[in-house]
Amino acid sequence: ESMHNELYKLLNTAKSERREHIRAELDSFEVLYSRFLGEGDTSINWGKIQLLPFGAVKPYNELVSETSPSLIKDMLNKLVVLKLNGGLGTSMGCTGPKSLICVRNALTFLDLTIQQIENLNKTYDTNVPIVLMNSFNTDEDTEKILRKYAQMKVKIHTFNQSRYPRINRESLLPIAKGIEDNEGAMEMYVVMSCSCWYPPGHGDVYQSFYNSGLLKQLIDEGKEYVFVSNIDNLGATVDISILKFLLDQPNSMSRDFVMEVTDKTRADVKGGTLVEYEGKLRLLEIAQVPKEHVDEFKSVSKFKIFNTNNLWINMKAIQRVVEERTLHMEVIVNPKTLDCGLNVLQLETAVGAAIMNFDGAIGINVPRKRFRPVKTTSDLLIMMSNLTCLKGGMIDMNTLRSFPSVPLVKLGHCFKKVKDFLERFANIPDLLELDHLTVSGDVTFGRNVTLKGTVIIIANHGDRIDIPPGAVLENKIVSGNLRI
Ligand code: UTP
Repeated sequence: ESMHNELYKLLNTAKSERREHIRAELDSFEVLYSRFLGEGDTSINWGKIQLLPFGAVKPYNELVSETSPSLIKDMLNKLVVLKLNGGLGTSMGCTGPKSLICVRNALTFLDLTIQQIENLNKTYDTNVPIVLMNSFNTDEDTEKILRKYAQMKVKIHTFNQSRYPRINRESLLPIAKGIEDNEGAMEMYVVMSCSCWYPPGHGDVYQSFYNSGLLKQLIDEGKEYVFVSNIDNLGATVDISILKFLLDQPNSMSRDFVMEVTDKTRADVKGGTLVEYEGKLRLLEIAQVPKEHVDEFKSVSKFKIFNTNNLWINMKAIQRVVEERTLHMEVIVNPKTLDCGLNVLQLETAVGAAIMNFDGAIGINVPRKRFRPVKTTSDLLIMMSNLTCLKGGMIDMNTLRSFPSVPLVKLGHCFKKVKDFLERFANIPDLLELDHLTVSGDVTFGRNVTLKGTVIIIANHGDRIDIPPGAVLENKIVSGNLRI
């Protein structure tokens, strides 16, 4: 009740032309909020979790490929590629949208996506559109960059996800005092009010895509499936075999939702996994696991696969679940402490959690190369190096590497921000024969360094290590003035 009143007060501060839009947004927030109050504890009943039945996850190599260009063209004409672009690059020390970080040859995630689709469209003489889901955090900067693509053949649509009010952890009421952020407000107020709102996770894509009118427009243009993925996953390229699998289903057997999963390794024990729960496929995230079962959840032998967040969804089915209000994603409660010291909660949802609301949902176990996220500068180092090759906007592993594994790279704190990372490497070392690299402390790399095997470089507090230009380090530990 008091939340309803608070939201109403906020709505009253909105400009009249924006009021309808904001009303819809706040209504959806209220639904999420009441689910949060109702659900309370988000941990699920562990006893009801079943391992996946046979056939729930299909091996990728069982899919049939398609080679006829004209059939591929027909299939691609039914596809839309949607990239989740609401997130910032804060974890890598950047203030703008993550998609605008340069990954390779001065090309950003966004540039690479556009190149890929442009290339696909040229190859098959098609018109696959790109849809970007922006947030109020990324919208302006993204639109600015998109201007340079205005003349391009690729159609790029954008829409904004919702903007929800952060709530005070004690009162559980919004901390915002008004809807608009910065009109005529004092600077202090801007700073304060900017943190009053948040983009509520990528689960928001269904409602926001629908509200934007774009979903309907694309369906009316004859599009059937949307391929949704994180813009920072460089492995999330259009896959013809998966598309064929979806489109070849007989009518009686609708496949409305495919989640690409991949084999879990010890490095990705935190990723969400697929389970059977009350007769449906369900995404199980670590946040939902009761404490006493977390180790079991992390085990690679029991839960063998995890969600890559590459999803293929029937667009009419999205329309249906939104209209029938049958979308039900678990509420993710994200506690934050703002710069001003205030403790708040953000209520969020995850796009993959909607798998249980779609008919004929299935997982496809794809090769690891379809999951190449860039979350840290360590990932960035690999992507920028000669371990990978860039072709048509796609990044592949270099075939010159004699074994297929990707090296384990751990760069320390001094490398965390992209800017510092770039300053510490005169150029990117040769990593072709690297297995494992750990760097800690104040370390810099000269030009044309080669790293092979296992290399560990540790500068103790107060020390600095400069790896000289042209150095070749093979199975070496470099630490302080001790060199082995
Ligand atoms: P994150 O970078 O937050 O994901 O966003 P993560 O930590 O890997 O974990 P998951 O995927 O949430 O499990 C992943 C993608 O989702 C977008 C980001 O821009 C990124 O491409 N995103 C995230 C949104 O579009 N909106 C949001 O509210 C949150």
